[in-house]
Amino acid sequence: MLPPRPLRLHPAITTERHVSKVAPASAEDLVAIRALLECSGLPTSDLESARPEFALMRENGRIVAAGALQRFGSSALLRSVVVAPDRRRGGLGRAIIGELERVARAARIHRLVLLTQTAVEFFAREGYEVIERSSAPKDMQGSEEFRSLCPGSATCMEKSLRGST
Ligand SMILES: CC(C)(COP(=O)(O)OP(=O)(O)OC[C@H]1O[C@@H](n2cnc3c(N)ncnc32)[C@H](O)[C@@H]1OP(=O)(O)O)[C@@H](O)C(=O)NCCC(=O)NCCS
Repeated sequence: MLPPRPLRLHPAITTERHVSKVAPASAEDLVAIRALLECSGLPTSDLESARPEFALMRENGRIVAAGALQRFGSSALLRSVVVAPDRRRGGLGRAIIGELERVARAARIHRLVLLTQTAVEFFAREGYEVIERSSAPKDMQGSEEFRSLCPGSATCMEKSLRGST
């Protein structure tokens, strides 16, 4: 009788997922971030001047999600939140927001404000509420994102981080 054939198992397909610490993006990462933002119609022209701090999510080395904080005193502009088109609706957007909020709380940021034209429902699910643009912190209103990059039609939203965990 022939010996039993060895089982041939397919090697597991593993996805190495990695969230980087929130920090100014390297020049190399900025190229990939800019491409992601541009293909989603989000502003990029002030990335060098404003130097927002990014949380990046990588899968097998590729940046698949990004989001950033631009600080104004005890508030921050939550901006440049993007997930690669082929990876949307899989929880990565929520994960990036969660990481940015965790970092913001640790940095004693009490209020996050954002502008969006396309993702009001997504942010509402994460606890953000619509506010008048004029209620945003005055110094934030002077930022390039507020003044020129996001048109007046964009919806302004906020979330208080006080008392939340
Ligand atoms: C908005 C965006 C970041 C969401 O990322 P995502 O990875 O697809 O979102 P998630 O999978 O984490 O979704 C979290 C929840 O929001 C919902 N959701 C996601 N996108 C949504 C949308 N456009 N409209 C309504 N609900 C949405 C999901 O169904 C999910 O809800 P559930 O848990 O009840 O099922 C992504 O669609 C994107 O990159 N859009 C283009 C860029 C953009 O508009 N950025 C925001 C401006 S800064």
